[in-house]
Amino acid sequence: MKDALGAILRPEQAAYLEGVEPARDPLLAEMEEWAREHGQPISDPEVASFLAVTARLSGARSIVEVGTNIGYGAIVLARAAGEDARVITIENDAETVVVARGFIARAGLSSQIEVRQADALAALAVLTDPIDLVYIDCVKEHYPAYLDLVLPKLSERGAVVADNVLWKGLVAAADVPAHEIGRVQALRTFNHALLTDSRLRSVILPLGDGVAYAARV
Ligand SMILES: C[S@@+](CC[C@H](N)C(=O)[O-])C[C@H]1O[C@@H](n2cnc3c(N)ncnc32)[C@H](O)[C@@H]1O
Repeated sequence: MKDALGAILRPEQAAYLEGVEPARDPLLAEMEEWAREHGQPISDPEVASFLAVTARLSGARSIVEVGTNIGYGAIVLARAAGEDARVITIENDAETVVVARGFIARAGLSSQIEVRQADALAALAVLTDPIDLVYIDCVKEHYPAYLDLVLPKLSERGAVVADNVLWKGLVAAADVPAHEIGRVQALRTFNHALLTDSRLRSVILPLGDGVAYAARV
């Protein structure tokens, strides 16, 4: 989320980190441009890099992304995890699903990534297979419920990544604008639950708009 630039790091540090991110391949660069032009909230490049490292290191075979948008995160995750991995990504907006499937097809990943058009809470509730890696990047007010739904399904060495958990710095603010209170309260609840749940070892990273990272213990 580009409006978070400078909310955690000093602006010059954030700009530096943006500048040193390696150039993306042409498809990801085109997706970033498309998202900018259409005002779509794809993951920040540095968060995408973090996802790629995590997918690679964890050896995840079963990945779930909550919130597809145009498929940027899903493509990054699937490429990094390798062709044995399967990604289920959930998006409720029909037009966005069409765009995501188009980019995923162009990436040659249609057999590896399944875009489920559904409400995220409903889709998570019916998942039955163990999840090795879940990336939560959807309705902020629902983060606590997403966590409740995915934790019992995490595999033995499963991991959770969640984006925007510092929400432009507002989760740490004393004065929160009225229109943000619902989101901020939900994110505070989520962060506390993630950090204190005895099933997890967790950390919140000052990356992008704040990234929560947890491994099952
Ligand atoms: C922040 S974007 C996801 C970005 C994506 N993870 C990436 O890495 O580029 C969140 C997406 O969640 C979708 N969304 C909003 N409400 C939803 C819901 N109730 N169920 C499923 N998807 C939803 C939005 O349409 C939006 O495309």
